[in-house]
Amino acid sequence: MPTFLLVNGPNLNALGRRNPKHYGTNTLKDIEAAVAKRAKELGVKVVPFQSNHEGAILDFLQAQSAKAQGVIINAGAFTHYSYAIRDALEDTKLPIVEVHLSNIHARDPFRQHSVIAAIAVGQISGFGWRSYLLALEYLAQSVAEK
Ligand code: DQA
Repeated sequence: MPTFLLVNGPNLNALGRRNPKHYGTNTLKDIEAAVAKRAKELGVKVVPFQSNHEGAILDFLQAQSAKAQGVIINAGAFTHYSYAIRDALEDTKLPIVEVHLSNIHARDPFRQHSVIAAIAVGQISGFGWRSYLLALEYLAQSVAEK
């Protein structure tokens, strides 16, 4: 069964109470459950992971990528400056879909640049929790077409 890694970075464990204007009211558990439900319908598997620590995200990617066919990542603030996460994502040699709940291009200047975007297949930004479902749809369909 096609398997995709679902990685959430710093502060995304606080979804639900954190800045609902930008991030909505769903918790990370709600989002992971919605993604798992859609994955079941699509006949694919999702392995969720969240960490507030850059190194833990690298360790997860290095340990899990050989068993996966793609990565959905919301790297949170690491999106904007973590060359280490970018390099680890590139090293997986998997299709990467970068997601954001908010539209990062309509926010603070420092959020408008992503160091991950250039090594991703694409970026889905601004659709709230649905950004994750759109990323999953893309990966499931593109793997099925191969
Ligand atoms: C975010 C946008 C980032 O700028 C921010 O640091 C986050 C969440 C989003 O999903 O919109 O933590 O990645």
